[in-house]
Amino acid sequence: MTDLRIEAFAHLRQLAARPDARRITPLFARDPARATRFRAVWGDLTVDFSKSSIDDAALEGLFHLAAAADLEGFRRRLFAGERVNPTEHRAAMHMALRAPAAAGLRASLASGTDDASALVAAERNRMQAFVEAVHAGRKASATGARFTHVLAIGIGGSDLGPLVATEALTLGRTDAPMQARFLSNVDGHAFIHATKGLDPARTLVLVASKTFTTQETVMNARAARAWIAGALGEAAVPLHFAALSTNLTAVAAFGITVDHTFGFRDWVGGRYSLWSPVGLAIALAAGWGPFQSMLDGAWAMDQHFRDAPLRENLPVLLALVGIWHVNALGCDTQCVLAYDDRLRRLPAHLQQVEMESNGKRVTLDGTLTGWDTCPVLFGEPGTNAQHSFIQLVHQGTRTIPVDFILAANADHDRPDAHRALAANAFAQAEALMVGKTEAAIRAEMADKGASQADIDAIAPHRVAPGERPSNTILFSRLDAFSLGRLIALYEHKVAVQGCLWGIDSFDQWGVELGKVLAGGILPELTPGAAPGTHDASTNGLITRFRALRGEA
Ligand code: F6P
Repeated sequence: MTDLRIEAFAHLRQLAARPDARRITPLFARDPARATRFRAVWGDLTVDFSKSSIDDAALEGLFHLAAAADLEGFRRRLFAGERVNPTEHRAAMHMALRAPAAAGLRASLASGTDDASALVAAERNRMQAFVEAVHAGRKASATGARFTHVLAIGIGGSDLGPLVATEALTLGRTDAPMQARFLSNVDGHAFIHATKGLDPARTLVLVASKTFTTQETVMNARAARAWIAGALGEAAVPLHFAALSTNLTAVAAFGITVDHTFGFRDWVGGRYSLWSPVGLAIALAAGWGPFQSMLDGAWAMDQHFRDAPLRENLPVLLALVGIWHVNALGCDTQCVLAYDDRLRRLPAHLQQVEMESNGKRVTLDGTLTGWDTCPVLFGEPGTNAQHSFIQLVHQGTRTIPVDFILAANADHDRPDAHRALAANAFAQAEALMVGKTEAAIRAEMADKGASQADIDAIAPHRVAPGERPSNTILFSRLDAFSLGRLIALYEHKVAVQGCLWGIDSFDQWGVELGKVLAGGILPELTPGAAPGTHDASTNGLITRFRALRGEA
């Protein structure tokens, strides 16, 4: 990696070593305009990063790193459909999935180029026709009944994005056209849970798998096939199944018909595939209109990311704040708290988007990075998180930056509840930053008549050190458009960070080894199978597992 980038990271560390450089509250005292200068506003969307220790010098240092990493060049190459995923010789052209056909986006292949926009438009029209036919009952069950439920089978990117978006767009709605259940884990209990109370005669099964070889998905699809065929006969299978995949040969071999198969290309990464046919569950459950609005919102964010100057660019700024926390301050975790119950699984999706993309230790030229990359991401909905792990964020030994996500308007008729939700979000961010001093606690306890012995013993435990950073992402309303915009904001943040860290954000070689080993162990778990040649611990556990099952 370039000396310029190494120097830029070193400079960030020097900036963080300045006296008081980790403190936030003095920055507000020094700069009365901080609250507006350290936030980015685009339409109704605000990313407020003023509650961080980033000052003008730090921001310059971060933009210096962006220049050293040629972020603008990367952005051009990404949108030009160049192979920004060199280890798989692929482009990362998920933006074409949400762009209008006229955008004319193209994606480089190992040899040649795809007219990405044209391919997407053709498949999107087929999807829309399919969704409308299902909703109208023109595409019906083997019994002639209208489909009322979707069983969406898939894992990782073929599950999390569609699950988050479907929940966001249907929870709390009474007029959603269909209900969706999601089945991802190969655990047989998950199958029982997902099909419990479902009527096979009214269930359309979607098998989402980019590769159509993923063990969990193929096994669950076979179980679902047996479930449908057992209830309605083998002839029902083609009517009750649809597939969403790049592997059309494997789909056909499974027995899913061409008119129930929706394809996409290798330049769509699994964790970016909710916008592709993999999102069919969203469109079926929420309706085509909301699905299209979600795509429009994401495309709006794509254009903002592509065109806005770096200093006004929301994904860029969000990425730079994260880089400050990881590479200057040494934070190794990132918390996401969406104060919206409809986004309750958003952290799970962002875990894959961030950690599968940027959980890397080797730069594009194959050498070790020499700097930290992706932090561990976790989260829960607010306010629930306040009653579980937020204690550690306030008073633990680590500094854990938080993203608070909040819509100003709710879609229910209890304004008091929404104000309470918002009050909690703002209060948490404020408490993390301002904390509470021991002197204030002592005075408060004395006022309430506590004994000196109690004050001495308890006050230190109540101190909240403050100076803990957070971003607040605030927008008008959680609708399909703003949902698409929000998810695309994080996708591009991740791409920017990958560029600055000099890594390939679009491959995921680390997950392969476990898959291969699982394939080898599986036959050893069948009764009478010969023992394998693993390490002693793994051999011992396999033997014990078989003994506990009475299959030694
Ligand atoms: O195991 C990780 C992964 O490869 C993800 O990248 C992907 O989203 C998931 O598996 C599912 O893969 P597929 O869509 O091919 O079934």
